[in-house]
Amino acid sequence: MDLDKIIKNRRSVRKFKSKKPDWRDILDCIDSMRHTPMAGGNFTLKFILVDDKEKIEKLSEAAQQDFISQAQYVLVVCSNPSRTVNAYEKRGETYCRHQAGAAIQTLLLKITEAGLATCWVGHFIDEQVKRILRIPENINVEAMFPIGYELKKPVTRKVKSDLDTALYFNEYKNKKMRKIRKLEGKRTGRLKDKK
Ligand SMILES: Cc1cc2nc3c(=O)[nH]c(=O)nc-3n(C[C@H](O)[C@H](O)[C@H](O)COP(=O)(O)O)c2cc1C
Repeated sequence: MDLDKIIKNRRSVRKFKSKKPDWRDILDCIDSMRHTPMAGGNFTLKFILVDDKEKIEKLSEAAQQDFISQAQYVLVVCSNPSRTVNAYEKRGETYCRHQAGAAIQTLLLKITEAGLATCWVGHFIDEQVKRILRIPENINVEAMFPIGYELKKPVTRKVKSDLDTALYFNEYKNKKMRKIRKLEGKRTGRLKDKK
């Protein structure tokens, strides 16, 4: 699949087949996150791949989202901000979160390419997730990803906001690439001269 197709085909899947994916395919997707750009080369991410049924059930409860318990694997993405904070102080915290988001998008695209399915789960009770997986206090739990094979295609969605409402040129709220009116004036003038 080419990149454009993968980007457009990626969907949040919340219904999985009972078939268990080959965990090496998931490792390959996790591995791709190592190529994410990291501020000053400080790698801040940690990953926990969970296949323990009891823990998956508890993670589902911590997120208050039943569909998670149907997955055979849940990947929990964490970050340790200490290295970016040492290097960049307050901004280092922001960089750490940015890095997680960038890595997650790579993960989602790789999962799509591999023919697997997942959903970005950002809603959960942090303390509960930390207790279940014995994650230290100073580590951020960024998100979790139930992974499996798609049972049912999600309903077709309309693509988010139009580019027209999100893109400006040269300054906030300016929707025109150039000062069209001035250019048009000049062009019209030239045409008139030729007549
Ligand atoms: C930061 C973030 C948090 C999300 N948290 C959840 C979540 O807790 N549960 C869930 O079902 N979907 C969650 N989603 C998935 C979105 O609902 C989904 O991406 C959106 O509805 C668009 O659908 P699509 O991913 O199929 O394009 C989250 C997405 C993002 C980016």
